[in-house]
Parts: sequence; C-alpha cells; structure tokens
Amino acid sequence: MKMHILAVTLLAAGVVTSCSKKEEPKPVPAAVQPAAPVLQPRTGEPVTPIAAPKVADPAMVELGKKLFFDPRLSKSGFISCNSCHNLSMGGSDNLKSSVGHKWNQGPINSPTVLNSGMNLAQFWDGRAKDLKEQAGGPIGNPGEMSFTHDLAVSVLQSIPAYVDEFKKVFNADTIDIDKVTTAIAAFEETLVTPNARFDKWLNGDDAAITKEELAGYELFKSSGCTNCHNGPALGGNSFQKMGIVTPFMTKSKVVGRIAVTKDIADRFKFKVPTLRNVELTYPYFHDGSAQTLSKAVEVMGQIQLGKTYTPEENASLVAFLKSLTGDQPKFELPQLPPSSDTTPAPQPFGK
Ligand code: HEC
Ligand code: HEC
Repeated sequence: MKMHILAVTLLAAGVVTSCSKKEEPKPVPAAVQPAAPVLQPRTGEPVTPIAAPKVADPAMVELGKKLFFDPRLSKSGFISCNSCHNLSMGGSDNLKSSVGHKWNQGPINSPTVLNSGMNLAQFWDGRAKDLKEQAGGPIGNPGEMSFTHDLAVSVLQSIPAYVDEFKKVFNADTIDIDKVTTAIAAFEETLVTPNARFDKWLNGDDAAITKEELAGYELFKSSGCTNCHNGPALGGNSFQKMGIVTPFMTKSKVVGRIAVTKDIADRFKFKVPTLRNVELTYPYFHDGSAQTLSKAVEVMGQIQLGKTYTPEENASLVAFLKSLTGDQPKFELPQLPPSSDTTPAPQPFGK
C-alpha cells in the first residue's frame, strides 16, 4: 500500500515538473505494481460473503459442543451428532445415505451442519423450522440415535458434571430436552465458515481466485445457477423443484416438500442446499447419487437449466465451487464428563 502511494506521488511529481510535455500517464511497470491498495468490496453480486460467527453466550456454546459430540444421547451409546455430521469432514458423513442405529441405512443424504443456521428451515423438506427444533429429531429417530427424549435427559441428569453445567448455563436445577436442544443449536450457530477465497475476491482481492475460477463464476451466473444458489450460503433460502427441465432419475422414494405441505405443487421440491464447502460434502443430492462435483454440475445443468456443458465449462464451474471452501470451525475437542454409577447403561447393537 505504501509503495503504491509512493509511486502515485512520484508520478504526480513527474507530471508537475514536466508540465509542458504531453500528460500521458506513464504506466507503472508490472514488477512494482502493488496489489490493490484499498480493497473495494464488490457490490451487486448475487453471492455475498459470510461473516464470522458471533458468539453471544460462550458457556452455552461450550455445553452445546459437548452434547453434539456425546454418543450417550443415543440408545447404543455409540452414535453422536458428529457421527453423521463429522466436523473433520465438512460437517457431513460423506456417505450416500447415513448409517444409524443397528446399522440402519437411512433414506437420505446427510446435509452439512456448517452454515446451517442460515437455512430458512431445516431438513431437505424443511420440516423443522430451526436448528433447535431440528436437534430433537435425530435423538428420537429409531433409525438414527434411537433414544427417547426422556431417556436422553435421564442419562444427562445422572452425570453430575452435566447437572452443574446446565445449572450454570440455564440457571435451573433440572435438565430437559428443551435445554438440550437450545444448547446444541447455540453451538451449531457458531459452525460458520468465513474467509473462503471466493469471499476474499468478493471483498475486493482480485488475486484471491484464479482465472478459471472466475470464468466458472461468470458461467454460474450467466447460466442461471444463481436463480437458486444465491445469497451468503449459495442456497438454503428457498425450496425448488429437482428436475425442472427434465425429470430427476432416482431410486429414492423421498418426495420432498410435499411431505410437509401436502401440496401437490411441492412434489420433488427440496431445500436448495448450500454450496459453501461443497468440495468437502460429497456425495451430492438428497439421494447421494452424484459421487463427484463434476457429476453434480453436469446433472444440475441438464435437469435444472437444459444446458450441456463442455468439459472445460464443467471444469471451470467445479473450480469455482471449490473456491467456496472457507475456514473450518476451529476448537478444542471437548472432554466429556464421565458417567456416574447411576447412569443407565448403553445398549450397543450387534451385527
Ligand atoms: C444417523 C445419522 C445422523 C445423526 C446421528 C444425526 N444426523 Fe442430523 N441429519 C442426518 C440426515 C440423514 C439428515 C437429513 C434428513 C432429512 O432431511 O430428512 C440430517 C439433517 C440435519 C440437519 C439439517 C441440515 C439442513 O441443511 O437441513 C441438522 C442441522 C442436523 N441434522 C443436525 C444434527 C444434530 C444436532 C444431531 C445430534 C442431535 C444430528 N443431526 C444427528 C443424519 C444424522
Ligand atoms: C431451479 C433451481 C436450481 C438451479 C437453477 C440450480 N440448482 Fe443446484 N440444486 C438445486 C436443488 C433443489 C438441489 C438439491 C436437489 C436434490 O438433492 O434433490 C441442488 C443441488 C445442487 C448441488 C449438490 C449440492 C449438495 O450438497 O448435494 C450442486 C453442486 C449444485 N446444485 C450446483 C448447481 C449448479 C452448478 C447450477 C448451475 C449449472 C445449479 N446448481 C442450478 C436447485 C437448483
């Protein structure tokens, strides 16, 4: 920045001392041209940067983090939220569809929990209105954690260190499922991934993305991908039909938003997934049928927009999507308090 100001000053001085000559500004040699002095954020783009998370109540977040990692919220004592939303793998399990209690293979792909606080609703069909409501689902789901809310609470209530911590955070003597899900949601709200290279570019750093990535973004916009994948999360903010131009071929029996609204117009509508960190959250689509990003882009182009991309176009779209990987949540792995003599025993499942 200083170098640039200096260069400008010298140039200006040059103009003054030789004012009788032609006033053609001398180009600054590439070698001394510094990076953009003051970064000018790009405005009017359909995609916007995400901000770092704000932590309102650190003690609540800390408790929620423990619960997120605690397998004792499952009947088997084996499955935690992190089993299927692995924070070492982009907040997903990288499986076609999730595996839960008794090795149950679930019907649907696990979406990432990263940036999920930005979603207009939770689940592919939006059946939970927010993270707190969502968090109660898997604990009681027979195919996931297979517990009951009462049993999960009684496990926590039997662990003195949890009782103390809930007391500290909620100022109440008893634990209930409402407090459990409130704390988990508070932790999830912090799972935000700022500083993707693409965000740096949006914030005015021209060098943050490559030519190919920029070409991919231009194509992403001009093709119409941004009709559905826009805003800070590039998704999460609307329900859209899967298969607008041509039908989506799938063996999955999942019907989408119609399951919630009973409105025939919502058949095969799904919450548009975020494309943040999409490089990490393979395989893709609610049925996990696209193993690679290249395949997902190909299918999207064809069935949503009626476009068939050349290999180069596909590669540039994929390159752009990979520039959306942000800083992954960084924290110390929580140490969970030990069970007590009265903690109900877990019931692990066999083969
Ligand atoms: C056995 C695997 C499994 C476990 C355990 C599990 N989840 Fe999920 N999760 C899923 C699947 C699969 C979905 C998508 C279900 C659907 O949309 O119908 C999902 C959806 C979600 C979503 C919605 C994200 C979105 O974009 O719609 C959130 C948030 C979430 N889970 C958080 C949690 C929390 C918190 C826990 C622990 C209390 C948990 N999950 C436990 C598999 C799991
Ligand atoms: C009409 C709305 C719409 C348009 C246009 C659209 N998408 Fe999608 N996109 C969706 C929906 C809905 C899904 C989830 C579909 C499902 O799994 O059933 C999705 C899923 C994806 C996924 C998979 C994400 C994941 O985590 O599973 C990628 C990648 C993707 N879109 C990229 C693109 C690209 C690239 C374009 C432009 C070529 C595009 N989309 C155009 C609505 C749209």
